[in-house]
Amino acid sequence: MTRHLITSAIPYINGIKHLGNLVGSQLPADLYARYQRARGREVLFLCATDEHGTPAELAAAKAGKPVAEYCAEMHGIQAEIARGFRLSFDHFGRSSSPQNHRLTQHFAGRLVEAGLIREVTEKQVYSNADGRFLPDRYIEGTCPNCGYDKARGDQCENCTKQLDPTDLIDPRSAISGSTDLEVRETKHLYLRQSSMRDRLNAWIDSKSDWPVLTTSIARKWLNDGDGLQDRGITRDLDWGIPVKKGDQDWPGMEGKVFYVWFDAPIEYIACGAEWAEANGLDDAAWERWWRTDKGADDVRYTQFMGKDNVPFHTLSFPATILGSSEDWKLVDYIKSFNYLNYDGGQFSTSQGRGVFMDQALAILPADYWRWWLLSHAPESSDAEFTWENFQASVNKDLADVLGNFVSRVTKFCRSKFGEVVPEGGQPGPREAALIQELTTRIRAYEAHQEAMEVRKAAQELRAIWVAGNEYLQEAAPWSTFKEDPEQAAAQIRLALNLIRLYAVLSSPFIPDASDQLMAAMGSTDWSWPDDVETALATLPPGHAFTVPDVTFRKITDEEREDWQARFSGTRD
Ligand code: MF3
Ligand code: ZN
Repeated sequence: MTRHLITSAIPYINGIKHLGNLVGSQLPADLYARYQRARGREVLFLCATDEHGTPAELAAAKAGKPVAEYCAEMHGIQAEIARGFRLSFDHFGRSSSPQNHRLTQHFAGRLVEAGLIREVTEKQVYSNADGRFLPDRYIEGTCPNCGYDKARGDQCENCTKQLDPTDLIDPRSAISGSTDLEVRETKHLYLRQSSMRDRLNAWIDSKSDWPVLTTSIARKWLNDGDGLQDRGITRDLDWGIPVKKGDQDWPGMEGKVFYVWFDAPIEYIACGAEWAEANGLDDAAWERWWRTDKGADDVRYTQFMGKDNVPFHTLSFPATILGSSEDWKLVDYIKSFNYLNYDGGQFSTSQGRGVFMDQALAILPADYWRWWLLSHAPESSDAEFTWENFQASVNKDLADVLGNFVSRVTKFCRSKFGEVVPEGGQPGPREAALIQELTTRIRAYEAHQEAMEVRKAAQELRAIWVAGNEYLQEAAPWSTFKEDPEQAAAQIRLALNLIRLYAVLSSPFIPDASDQLMAAMGSTDWSWPDDVETALATLPPGHAFTVPDVTFRKITDEEREDWQARFSGTRD
């Protein structure tokens, strides 16, 4: 049986992510991981924080903390919020881990041995006051084109002209404001990706089943304009993985670190090693997921990410892996997402616009957000979060359809038969029709989940909830009970079993509510409904249950207006 290795793009360490980030990778990855586990498949689901690079250094400086301390703290915060959203990572690692240091240096060593790395001498701006080289975007000055006085070294925000830092009039450091800058020579390593163009092209061509969003972005970078460019994989920074070939020093590279986009995807692998260590397992335990020469032949590897991450995962990271000539597992399927917009604009981390993960959890439990985000995932195009739509979906789908079904069935049973599954009566044609409809729908639901068609899976699940409501409406046990209590008993028995079935089917989307429903049904039987008729006979007559507390409450108009106002500005 296939084993599933699943990774989500690893979030940057500098700050708490917004709901657009969440729905673009971690949340759909979690849906898929939970679904595969529910089907009894072996899953390794990995994510981590992406801790290197200038943004991490600057965020730490802003917080007035040493960068290592800042990262450790932020990792803890992100891990806590991930638990709050019930993201079921087998391990939530750190790209700054010793495992990633070793592995990143190992890959660099393999690549240089294979002749895939060249050294390039470049001129770069050095700030004497800051004691460091400045990346282009951390140099500010006056735009030679329009005169805007806060133009960045890579581009003028005002007139959009692409710039070189040396174009700027009166350049200064964006970090300290110092104008004591000079141009110095510095040596960097470049990965000769261009020499791997044909191999990468052939590899992408072999992925005919990939989403168009994924392959079109990959092809554009492979074939447009100059095609695949060689890529600088080192930086003049303090914080990062020191440049080495394996465990050997790299003459001329002293004091330099690898570029964050070189080491971040390698963390997917290193995270497997971190997982093994955290669980007291040996190297073989993670290598059977990651090395095709060590047992990973039956592994299917799926990556989840936003569309801006696609070039790095279709070209750069595969170039690293292919270039190593070792038997590392390459990705089998890349599921990518468009953007989620916020109330007529964009979510923005830098401007603090939109709803951030910690804020969302302070308002409502995870399941409300999980349901809305997944059922509106930006798959075929960008999607938009509005408070009206959020309120309408939650109230309709979760409260009116699912919640109401559960409450009506359990309360009716308690009042007429007590808190046990009633006995007596026989299923008839109406029940047979329901079982048939559910069978068709559950098979469709499985197909959408397997295909990672997130919205379609949500639609099908909702239709499965609706089918139960319609059955209840037509069977009307509250009227049947008056003439034929036995028949009402059979109807309610089926409906109680349906609640357990809903718990099983819904758990990838709304895990907490599913746990609550399962517990209320007094069951621990999470087996997947391969046969619906059997599944609906799981709870036998006489089996005790309890009436659950309100599963989902409605969002009031006042709340909606309050939140809308509270989140209309920017976060401080
Ligand atoms: N940190 C990046 C982002 O949030 C994603 C890195 S994914 C990895 O866009 F492949 F590099 F790990
Ligand atoms: Zn300008």
